[in-house]
Amino acid sequence: MKKSLKRGLMAALAVTAVACASTSESLSTLRDTSVDAPDAAPAEKMYAGKQPGKFALIERTFVGQPPLIPHTVENFDITPKENACLDCHIDSEFKGKKMPSLGKSHLVKSSDPKAEPQLNMLRWQCDSCHVPQVDAKPLVGNYFTK
Ligand code: HEC
Ligand code: HEC
Repeated sequence: MKKSLKRGLMAALAVTAVACASTSESLSTLRDTSVDAPDAAPAEKMYAGKQPGKFALIERTFVGQPPLIPHTVENFDITPKENACLDCHIDSEFKGKKMPSLGKSHLVKSSDPKAEPQLNMLRWQCDSCHVPQVDAKPLVGNYFTK
């Protein structure tokens, strides 16, 4: 009994080894390149927009969409302590120029009832929802219509 079980197991292992060896030769990736071919870095694209202040707002495609960023975000850093986006967007005006301000949905009441509402820190990382634009061919097609 024991011997035949052992023999059976050995046979199963041998079959698996042969199966693995034969599939590894014909393995190909979704990108249709060999699995060990190095990945070429994608071409660097410039942001479509330049410094803010001259761009038309991009029309929203559905209700509740985080508006797309029409200007560049080059050098507007978001670190744990500083957020360059807020310099302009915390209010509807910055250095005498009109700005789209980040709306009430982004604010929470301050603990001091007399103080102005403050930014909800869950919204600190602006670019997790708002994205700048580049003129690039979509990697994957889609059939979304308004
Ligand atoms: C120097 C000021 C300034 C800074 C800094 C700035 N913006 Fe803007 N932003 C603007 C202005 C002005 C507009 C209006 C469009 C334009 O003229 O470029 C705008 C437009 C936008 C819009 C579109 C709003 C809408 O209703 O369609 C979004 C979203 C936005 N900015 C997000 C950001 C984010 C995120 C950052 C940080 C990475 C940032 N902005 C940094 C000035 C600024
Ligand atoms: C969790 C996602 C999320 C994050 C993070 C976020 N936003 Fe938004 N934002 C939205 C959505 C959704 C809208 C559109 C609906 C609304 O006003 O709430 C919006 C609207 C805006 C608008 C247009 C407001 C208006 O009334 O037209 C501005 C400007 C903006 N956000 C700037 C910012 C900035 C600056 C930050 C970072 C400090 C930020 N947002 C972080 C989701 C986000």
